[in-house]
Amino acid sequence: MRIEKTLQSRIGDMDFDNISFGNQYSDHMFCSEYKNGEWKNSVIKPFGNIVFSPICPVFHYGQAVFEGMKAYKDKNEEVFFFRPKENFKRINKSAIRLEMPPIPKDIFINGLRELIEIDKNWIPKNYGQSLYIRPFLIAKDGVLSARPSQDYMFIIISTPADAYYKRPLKIKIEEKYSRSAIGGVGFTKAAGNYASSFYPTRLANEEGFDQILWTDSSTHTMIEESGTMNVFFWLKNKLLTPKANDNILSGITCDSIISLAKKLGFHVEKRGLSVSEIVKGLKTGELKEAFGCGTAAVINYFKMISYKGDNFFLPDIPEKKRISVFLKKELLNIQHNLSEDPFGWRVKLKNFS
Ligand code: PLP
Ligand code: COI
Repeated sequence: MRIEKTLQSRIGDMDFDNISFGNQYSDHMFCSEYKNGEWKNSVIKPFGNIVFSPICPVFHYGQAVFEGMKAYKDKNEEVFFFRPKENFKRINKSAIRLEMPPIPKDIFINGLRELIEIDKNWIPKNYGQSLYIRPFLIAKDGVLSARPSQDYMFIIISTPADAYYKRPLKIKIEEKYSRSAIGGVGFTKAAGNYASSFYPTRLANEEGFDQILWTDSSTHTMIEESGTMNVFFWLKNKLLTPKANDNILSGITCDSIISLAKKLGFHVEKRGLSVSEIVKGLKTGELKEAFGCGTAAVINYFKMISYKGDNFFLPDIPEKKRISVFLKKELLNIQHNLSEDPFGWRVKLKNFS
């Protein structure tokens, strides 16, 4: 791998006291090209614009997949990734579904490790803060036909991150639009999944909601996920989360919360969750908490859920008594090396191989 360091770091311009998600990017990026069936030209170079032909299939047919992952610092400024191999597996699952070449393990791992080693000063130090890392794969050959590209580029960039959502969320159970369908690409991090969610989300925003709670596309009776988060419900002393199928992104945070909650003694069920079960819980007050989780969001609780024009406010529980807040702290403690990691999720930057 070629390494070309910047002559002028921008870190002096970074305001670590006011981190706004995705506004500032670390000094370097990693790029690797796929051409003629081979991966080559892996390079770490200064973050900057890249030139692509206007014919690239990524622009016309949306052949693009991405990942979201984080690096954390502990009190001694040792750097850790959180479950990075899960992101590696998932980007390749996404790539295969979009008829793109899987990224070789050594390119993903060595690129990521070297990039974050070079840019580790960009990792914020405070509890709950991290460096959000965005690996992505795009199609870039020069033929306009609607067929899979022959050439691709894999890129990794990173941005200092704080809380993604700054407050508890108001959510609308969606009954008209869908995020994904059976047999589709909902289980992947395909760029188009996000593009198609923007219009219905804007409509929901205009009605005063922060996010949509997606339901299945055929009947709108089963709960799926919300925005960029998987969802959990604390109903009748059980922590419930929808079973991932090919409509739902199988979240690494969701999987971590399930293991963590089980270890902490909670009763957890991952199963089909109907809208009627959740709405009944809202009406009877038996649904005590609901929250979303994801790499960027970590854990964010919902204060209101709306269904067919009825706005149901969840119980106003103090933060220190909330299961969502408790689980967030338990998770962040593992991520920041403040507690034991019985699951082996933390990976020291320098040991990542
Ligand atoms: N669902 C969607 C649509 C997402 O974009 C994300 C974020 O990555 C998640 C769920 C949560 O997944 P993870 O916890 O792996 O970040
Ligand atoms: C993530 O949590 O990693 C996401 O993908 C969210 C992102 C779309 C901002």
